[in-house]
Amino acid sequence: MANVLIAGCGYVGTAFGAGLASEGHVVWGLRRRPDALLPGIRPLAADLTVPRTLQALPRGLDFVFYTASADASDDDSYRAAYVDGLRNLLHALGHQRQDLRRVFFTSSTGVYAQSTGTWVDETSPTEPAEFSGFRVLEGERLLLGSSFPSTVLRLGGIYGPGRTRLIERVRRGLATCPDGPPLYTNRIHRDDCAGALRHLMTLAEPASLYLGVDHEPAEQCEVLRWLARQLGVSPPRLEPPLGSTPRHQSNKRCSNAKLVASGYAFRYPGFRDGYLALLAEGVA
Ligand SMILES: NC(=O)c1ccc[n+]([C@@H]2O[C@H](COP(=O)([O-])OP(=O)(O)OC[C@H]3O[C@@H](n4cnc5c(N)ncnc54)[C@H](OP(=O)(O)O)[C@@H]3O)[C@@H](O)[C@H]2O)c1
Repeated sequence: MANVLIAGCGYVGTAFGAGLASEGHVVWGLRRRPDALLPGIRPLAADLTVPRTLQALPRGLDFVFYTASADASDDDSYRAAYVDGLRNLLHALGHQRQDLRRVFFTSSTGVYAQSTGTWVDETSPTEPAEFSGFRVLEGERLLLGSSFPSTVLRLGGIYGPGRTRLIERVRRGLATCPDGPPLYTNRIHRDDCAGALRHLMTLAEPASLYLGVDHEPAEQCEVLRWLARQLGVSPPRLEPPLGSTPRHQSNKRCSNAKLVASGYAFRYPGFRDGYLALLAEGVA
């Protein structure tokens, strides 16, 4: 059994940590407001951006998972969550001479700026066009350049119980399809985020980088139309293409081949599997 710290223990971290705890691992969940953690996860109140709050980390840790996310969609918040917080934690772990087996970091497919629907994998260029991708990439490099064995998992858009905004928009007739070339999106169900992290933790020598997305990069309008059919509502309206100075529009198909080749079997291989389960469970 391992001693595990989940730093930034939120939506994914809590599901992941609860699973580990149920297997008998000792799991600490670090966040500023740890009261929302599930039973089995030991709460650790700390602010990753305030180094003095990280002085009393549990000793004898085996694994650390960094799953914090930004408070707001601006550069300062992204830098705080993905760079400063990570740097502070790595510094505290080093100062405490923690003999870690590995540190994992949940990054994002937002590090890719590809915009023509091309396939991308772990070897593809990362030239983020937005501050968000840039800061997450900075965090990746910080971790991979540290003295700890480390692995980055670049996640696609996460959905699952309680994260059903797309379903709600379709149900309420608010979803629209841009009238233009196909726009690919990449997803992963929360339980596969947790499952993939659990799987990587079991590998003796995981690689330093994996993409964490399901098997099916899906055209956005296809997802919306399929959801509309499941919900028995009108299909999404077509909207005119974006104006002449659009925000950068990411459009790429992310491959999970490396994660699958490492032995991970997805519980929800495509969006239909995941959304059908949510609809059947009545959580959406
Ligand atoms: N959501 C997506 O679609 C998506 C896509 C790609 C990648 N990811 C990445 O996947 C990971 C998991 O995402 P998620 O949706 O589970 O995130 P989440 O629910 O927002 O959880 C992140 C947790 O981090 C904690 N946190 C933030 N700042 C902190 C700080 N300064 N000190 C301590 N704790 C802090 C927050 O708790 P407190 O507020 O209590 O501190 C929050 O519960 C994140 O790294 C995210 O960037 C997410």
